[in-house]
Amino acid sequence: MSKRILIIMAMAAEARPVIDQLGLRELPANPQLTSHFPRFQGEFAGKEIVISLNGKSTEYGVDRIGTEFAALNTQSAIVELAPELIINAGTCGAFSADADIADIITSDQPVVYHDHRVPLEGFDRFAMGAYPTAYCPEYFQGIEHKLGVVTTGNSLDMPDIDRQWIRQNQGMAKEMECAAVAATAHLYGIDFLPIKSVTDHIDIELDNVEQFLNNLSKASQKLSETLIRVLTNIN
Ligand code: ADE
Repeated sequence: MSKRILIIMAMAAEARPVIDQLGLRELPANPQLTSHFPRFQGEFAGKEIVISLNGKSTEYGVDRIGTEFAALNTQSAIVELAPELIINAGTCGAFSADADIADIITSDQPVVYHDHRVPLEGFDRFAMGAYPTAYCPEYFQGIEHKLGVVTTGNSLDMPDIDRQWIRQNQGMAKEMECAAVAATAHLYGIDFLPIKSVTDHIDIELDNVEQFLNNLSKASQKLSETLIRVLTNIN
């Protein structure tokens, strides 16, 4: 039996290049789910691949980015597809000393939150989280990548308190879904791997939104090339 790999992605624009390049077909919506997550399936390099998107908000017409829908998407895909490995692929911000635009960041360290602050005994560590990754050097053989902490929050901007937390946790990839996907994978005992491509520098003057929009296409293309090479390398 071929290995089943689930790839969770938040934005359609991030996923389009890899869906096209892998030639994946859209699955029909599950009639039992009133709010379905768009899913694309196919075979590649002897593996069964499903990309599951967070989908679009019916109220606001934009991709349902952020942790809530990432967790719901992941949970429903686990229940329906029983994957053996979950990858969270997407874009991120990074400090300019750590990575260039479109660089690939993955992690061999636990994924954390930088905006869950609960200063109560025990709840503090629970809120920050520490969800394991299943990084294997062989998956990234021949692929340029950086290893660092992926840190999740529900905002694109970075108030000082978030910056302090990110620095304190040595965060390298700042993004908006990974810890929620990792937590859900961990809940079900499924291996988890993040793969992020940098769209913006979080420590320069130029507005993050402007950088993000300027670099989204380049970063998504690089993400697609990397995903295809990692999927090829996985045994
Ligand atoms: N995704 C891409 N860039 C980001 C940033 N600066 N913060 C959060 N998520 C992001």
